[in-house]
Amino acid sequence: MTYNDQSDVPTPRPPQPRVFDGWYVVKRSKDLGSTPCAVTLLDQRIVLFRNELGEPAALLDRCPHRNAPLSLGRTKSGALECPYHGWRFATSGECVGVPGSCREPGHPSRKAVAFSALDQDGMIWVYARPDCTPPGRPYALPYQAEAGYQHVHATLMMEGSLHATAENALDVPHTAFLHRGLFRQPGSSPPIEVTVRRWHDRVEAEYVGEPRPGGVLGRMLAPQGGIVTHFDRFILPCVAQVEYRLGPKAHLIATTLLTPESDYQTRLYGVVTFRLPIALPGSLISSIAKPVAMRVLRQDADMLARQTQNIESFGEQRFNSTELDALGPPILRLLERAERGELEEPTEQPRTRSFTLQL
Ligand code: FES
Ligand SMILES: [Fe+2]
Repeated sequence: MTYNDQSDVPTPRPPQPRVFDGWYVVKRSKDLGSTPCAVTLLDQRIVLFRNELGEPAALLDRCPHRNAPLSLGRTKSGALECPYHGWRFATSGECVGVPGSCREPGHPSRKAVAFSALDQDGMIWVYARPDCTPPGRPYALPYQAEAGYQHVHATLMMEGSLHATAENALDVPHTAFLHRGLFRQPGSSPPIEVTVRRWHDRVEAEYVGEPRPGGVLGRMLAPQGGIVTHFDRFILPCVAQVEYRLGPKAHLIATTLLTPESDYQTRLYGVVTFRLPIALPGSLISSIAKPVAMRVLRQDADMLARQTQNIESFGEQRFNSTELDALGPPILRLLERAERGELEEPTEQPRTRSFTLQL
């Protein structure tokens, strides 16, 4: 194979690890009402709706009768009604009505494929493997009910794999280049000690001795400057989280919940939870911080799209990492192991490695 193959045959995009045994966000709770709506998770088209108790439900968006999209239907008495012949389905997927038939509707062959769905922390979560009982609950967002904390939400689509998007959200070295001037300046920091800890289902990098990040966001977090405590973490299958602490008061946790709609389309549900040393109204913080944060996110989105286009045109994903790529390689290994169902045994003590970083 050559790198400049001009043949007309399109190269397939290299497949990405897909973790079906996990909970993912598919919608914000406030955006799901009684009207059914279509979402996509790992290339599975899913219809969401709420029953008469307001509980969320998720079925494969394909009627078992003649395959009409159930998302074009409506809810009636807590069941989802197909728009074609009116079969009705309960949240479990069981068929509870066949209009015109005098027989019992609930034959097992008429059951719609069903996914477990939950409303938690203002998000609708779906377990990606259908027709099974999930072994646990979704990741619980931290500090949601804690006094003194404020929360900002944002949703964005990235043209990039879950792995590339998670790495980007947690990657420190690119911030001084791609976001030059907005977040960090190249050559501006003293050496920072980095410790990477890996458990069976998560990996975390701790940065010790890091000065407060520059730019308006850093100044709001810590007006006096100083040294921050900084953690970046990835938790299977979809949580990328950045945590900053400075002194007893300033605390910020940016949690990005990553939803792989397909191998190279990842929707971000971001929740920034923070407590500032000075009391400022939420609307003022939002009006100052949001434009900068959105500029940073747009730079990331643009680079991820270019990276994806390049991987597609070269037909392969070939990475060459150094120790500075603290989390990208272990995230990929975690995803690949989880896809194969081969996670290591849980242990109390993480595996640890350390290095020094100078930005
Ligand atoms: S296709 Fe759904 S009821 Fe016929
Ligand atoms: Fe970035």
